Amino acid sequence: MERDHAEMKTPLRFSDSREIDPKAVLALYRYADWSKDRTLEETQQVLSQSSLVFSLWEGPRLVAFGRVLTDFIFRAAVYDVIVHPDVQKQGVGRALIYKILTHPSLKKVPVFYLLTRDKRPFYEKLGFVTTEEEGYSSMIFVRKETKP
Ligand SMILES: CC(C)(COP(=O)(O)OP(=O)(O)OC[C@H]1O[C@@H](n2cnc3c(N)ncnc32)[C@H](O)[C@@H]1OP(=O)(O)O)[C@@H](O)C(=O)NCCC(=O)NCCS
Repeated sequence: MERDHAEMKTPLRFSDSREIDPKAVLALYRYADWSKDRTLEETQQVLSQSSLVFSLWEGPRLVAFGRVLTDFIFRAAVYDVIVHPDVQKQGVGRALIYKILTHPSLKKVPVFYLLTRDKRPFYEKLGFVTTEEEGYSSMIFVRKETKP
């Protein structure tokens, strides 16, 4: 990572609690094609069953969300990274990924995966590299200081 969350224009509060209102997450899901049709029940399950849940807050408002499934030692997969359109292009997405990659519970994990359709340039700026398969770009982040 070249830069960190300190470069965000607006200071946001970070949380890794899964005890967040599923309706707030659902509201954020409405802004992305791949998540806009999700239900409240599905969102509740996402929150309760993911290994880790990450959020950034502007006052009481959820402005960024992401989650991870992981064994906490070898591999982690990043899902549902989404930033509210009002605060996009201000370093918030970068800050969220930084929080994920540096989270104390994920410190030993050498390899992070994610799938993206069209956000390769965003992830490449954060150190992910790309492989192409079946119309998807599969991306992987390998920590420099560890072997996969
Ligand atoms: C993709 C997304 C998370 C990026 O969040 P963001 O807060 O706008 O990103 P940042 O401001 O932190 O951008 C970090 C860098 O990536 C670049 N970037 C962000 N989105 C980009 C895009 N779509 N294409 C190219 N570059 C992009 C920024 O210009 C910035 O570059 P810089 O450091 O050289 O200035 C956000 O646009 C989003 O939530 N989109 C809708 C949901 C989605 O598609 N999520 C991805 C699922 S795989």
